Amino acid sequence: MGHNASMSKGIFISFEGIDGAGKSTHIQGLAEAFTQQGRTVTLTREPGGTQLAEALREMLLHQPMDAWSEALLVFAARRDHLVKVIAPALQRGEVVLCDRFTDATHAYQGGGRGLPSQSLDALEQGVQTLDGRGFLEPDLTLWFELPPEVAAQRLTGARLPDRFEAQPLAFFQAVHQGYEQRAQAAPQRIRRIDASASRHQVWQQITRLLVQKGWLSIMVPVPAALQIQSS
Ligand code: TYD
Repeated sequence: MGHNASMSKGIFISFEGIDGAGKSTHIQGLAEAFTQQGRTVTLTREPGGTQLAEALREMLLHQPMDAWSEALLVFAARRDHLVKVIAPALQRGEVVLCDRFTDATHAYQGGGRGLPSQSLDALEQGVQTLDGRGFLEPDLTLWFELPPEVAAQRLTGARLPDRFEAQPLAFFQAVHQGYEQRAQAAPQRIRRIDASASRHQVWQQITRLLVQKGWLSIMVPVPAALQIQSS
């Protein structure tokens, strides 16, 4: 499963979860860990990762629009990002760490906003199929699972909320459901991380998984990004 096997020795990992689930520190930590073990890392995010996609991200996060417009903007951003950044990096054999990918669209625009999953599936198929290379998707997706109530508390007062962060709890409950359905449909690719645990325990869950996959060696040092923060 995962990114098209004919492509390369690259590894494509995406990170998902509702806002406030705490992905960022761990993505930084993994970038450090892979780099220390001699891999070249492309650290990127969605929507974003190219000039066009970052411009679309600005619009998505701040301009009022309906669910369809959201979905079409994130898929436009995704296509540009895949073609210009992700596919070339995988081709070079790099590790691509992507903060959110298509599961976020199924969770936010599908679960949260209520768009039909068949339509999102069709967009996903088209957008992630590259000329001559077939369908491209992450090899592994780490879903930082956290009860929406807890995530909401973590977000409170963190910074000025964007259009999604400003949504009520019920929205995040629906997004969480969306992730749950995706995880059930693709249990091999999407692995749950218990994000309610302490930072160190979350880090251990992640590295254990990557060691099992043979992508990281057993001696994974706790990265600096995790040492400066408590629990
Ligand atoms: P996020 O990745 O959480 O960045 P930050 O940590 O800087 O807030 O913010 C992106 C927001 O965009 C997030 O609330 C989820 C939303 N989003 C979608 O609604 N659909 C998508 O397909 C993607 C990738 C993101």
